[in-house]
Amino acid sequence: MPRPIFLYKADPVRGAEWAECFERKAPELEFRQWPLDAEAERVRYLAAWEPPQDLARFPRLELVFSVGAGIDQFDFARVPPHLPVLRMVEPGIVDGMVEYATLAVLALHRDWPAYREQQRDRRWEAHRVRTAASRRVGVLGLGMLGRAVLDKLRGFGFPCAGWSRSAHTIDGVDCYAGPDALPAFLARTDILVCLLPLTAATRGILDARLFAALPSGAALVNCGRGGHLVQDDLLAALDDGRLSAAVLDVCDPEPPAPGHPFWHHPRIVLTPHIASMTQPGTAVDAVLDNIRRHRAGLALTGVVERQRGY
Ligand code: GLV
Repeated sequence: MPRPIFLYKADPVRGAEWAECFERKAPELEFRQWPLDAEAERVRYLAAWEPPQDLARFPRLELVFSVGAGIDQFDFARVPPHLPVLRMVEPGIVDGMVEYATLAVLALHRDWPAYREQQRDRRWEAHRVRTAASRRVGVLGLGMLGRAVLDKLRGFGFPCAGWSRSAHTIDGVDCYAGPDALPAFLARTDILVCLLPLTAATRGILDARLFAALPSGAALVNCGRGGHLVQDDLLAALDDGRLSAAVLDVCDPEPPAPGHPFWHHPRIVLTPHIASMTQPGTAVDAVLDNIRRHRAGLALTGVVERQRGY
């Protein structure tokens, strides 16, 4: 009996690591990397950053996995409605995001962008060191990433708050829910971290109106998606001092055009969408866990609600 195929369509280098994990952990499945020229009827599972055009080629497909935590890059028109799509929920991606967001918040808290500018200008000038207790951090988005980031930041002594569409309760974190609560959340936030999913409701949320609701001199970290940010509004807010600095891991488009101001703005730290990455070892464990749950008829982890957009 030929084995069912698990088809992978994403970064091939990390795909080779997935293959090695599958060989050890799931010998009952045949791991194959895209493209697959024949035997489409054996494909039972697909993991992709973006699904292929012609999913109808795989009549026995049962589950579609996103290799990323975000799924806005998915064109759901390509995925028949009966197929569950699963977001990547795995500890490796969480740990990476906690590191990056902590690095960014601490850099902003300790005036790193200003000191980089001073070094460039050979200027030796100390600014008052503020305590973590006096710097209020707020995280937009209270999914697995937002919650893990808040948990780490709380340990430094930052007063922490989170905002999300629906109500949450998190120990030691002031939770705000829904559009009506957004202004109050922003008014108490000195460093804002965006970890929202990109949906029709959150596209362009980081705009002039939102910046105006933050305390003067607040700072921004965007580790969500480039589409969350209205770029010209950020540049205006940095230029008029409403915002002091921004750390951006994402941009729309990626990369920005060669002459784009994000490349050289002294108060913007730009990284090439590397805040976190799915780690093959832990990702394969999470994927296999869902496959086993699916076979046993149990509830799956990370199921995307298409209507909601994440
Ligand atoms: C990366 O951006 C991801 O969604 O995992």
